[in-house]
Amino acid sequence: MVRELHDGVGTASFSPSGKQGEQGEQGRRGFPKADALNDPLRRRLEINYRRNQKQDHTQLLDAAGRAFNYDDCRDSYWNPESFSLLYGTPLWDQASNYQRTVLNQLYWVAYYSQIISAEIATIFFNQTSAAALYAHDGFRTICDMLDLESSQERAHISAFRAVGEQTEQALLGKRLFSYPMRGPFIETMIFADTNRLKQWWKQLQLQAFGLISANNSFLACQYFTVRGLRTLNGKLVQHQLSRYYQTHDDQENAPIPSKISFYHFMDESSHFNSSTLLSQEVIHCLPQPTRFETLVANLGIRGCQQDHQQFSVAVNGIFWHDPALYSKVYELLRSHIFSMDDADAKEMIRVCFTQESEGVYRSYQTHREATAAYQAYLDSLDYVWPSNRRMSIMAATSVETYLATQRRAWSRFIRVKEAHRDD
Ligand SMILES: [Fe+2]
Ligand SMILES: [Fe+2]
Repeated sequence: MVRELHDGVGTASFSPSGKQGEQGEQGRRGFPKADALNDPLRRRLEINYRRNQKQDHTQLLDAAGRAFNYDDCRDSYWNPESFSLLYGTPLWDQASNYQRTVLNQLYWVAYYSQIISAEIATIFFNQTSAAALYAHDGFRTICDMLDLESSQERAHISAFRAVGEQTEQALLGKRLFSYPMRGPFIETMIFADTNRLKQWWKQLQLQAFGLISANNSFLACQYFTVRGLRTLNGKLVQHQLSRYYQTHDDQENAPIPSKISFYHFMDESSHFNSSTLLSQEVIHCLPQPTRFETLVANLGIRGCQQDHQQFSVAVNGIFWHDPALYSKVYELLRSHIFSMDDADAKEMIRVCFTQESEGVYRSYQTHREATAAYQAYLDSLDYVWPSNRRMSIMAATSVETYLATQRRAWSRFIRVKEAHRDD
C-alpha cells in the first residue's frame, strides 16, 4: 500500500489505487516510485537547506582549526566544569586546579574523538542515501542538502582533529584518545565492548547496509532515523558544551575549542532538522516497507540501541564501554600530570569506576534522558518494533548493572596487568 499524500499536491506519480502492483513499469522492476513531495514539505526542505547554506560555519571552523595554539588557551577550561573527564569521581575530588583544567580539556578531546568517528561514517551514508533518493523526481534538493552536510562534516572533523592532536601532543607527547584518519567501516564507537570477531561482523554489516541502501529509498530514508537518534544524543550534550562560549564574557577571546563547540552545534542543528524531515516526513512519500525493509530498518535501530547501551563515567554524554578505557585512564594517571605509581593508579581506577559517586549518577541521568528522547523520536513511526519503540536494551541499563560490569572488568584488568608484569 502506498501511503496517503499529505495534501494531494503533485500527484503525477501517485498510484490512486494505492496498490504495489500498480506502480508502473519502474515499480515492477524493483525500484518503487515515490509520491511527489507535497508543497509544504518541499518548502520546509528548501528552507532548511537555504538556512544551512546561509549560516554555514565551515569558514569559521576552518579558521578556528588553523588558529588553534594550545599555549594560548592552556590555562582555561574549554567546557562547563561538569563536562570534564571523570567529573564527580574521587579523581576529580582530589585533583589540583591544574589537573582539573587538564581533565576539562581532555574531556573535549575525548568527546570530539568520538564525534569524528561518527561523522566519518555519516559522510559515507549521506552519499549512499542521496544516491538512492536521487532516483526520484523532485528529490534533488534533498541530495544537495546532504552534499552540503557532508562537506560541513569534513570541516568539523578537521577542526576537531587539529585541536585534539595538538593538545595531546602538548600534554602527553603522544596520542591518548585521538587516532590516525580512518575509514567509514570501522566500529563507530571508539571504546566499545568488542573483539576482533565482533569488529569484523560490524564492518560487514556497515558495508552491506551501504550497498543495499544506495538502491533502496526506504532504507536510505530510514538511515536518517538512526542518524537522528545519534544526533539527538549529540544535541543534548553539545547544547550544553556550546553554552560555555555563548555565555562567555569576552567571546572574541574565548578559548578556540569552545568556539568550535558552538559553531559545530549550530551546523548540527540543521543536520538534525534534515534527519527529522527525512525520517519522519519524506518517508511517508515512499511505499510501505516490505518485510525485508522493516527487518533491516529495525536491526539498524537495535544496533543503535546496542551501541548506546552503556553510559560512561569517564566521559558523561558518550556511551562508551568504560572498561575499554581503563588502560587510557591508567596511562593518564601514570603520566607527569598525575604522577601516580602503579598501585595508586589501579586503586584510583577501582574507586572511580566500581563505586557509586556523583559522576556515576550524572552519567546515568544523561543516559536516561537520551533513552526518553529516543523513545519520543520513534513514537510516530509505525514500522518500528515494540522493543525498539521502548528502547528496551537501553532502558535495562541501571547504576547497578553498570557497577557490576565495572567490578568484573576491573578484576580482569588487574589480572591482565599482573600477568604482564610477570612476563
Ligand atoms: Fe558534525
Ligand atoms: Fe552532522
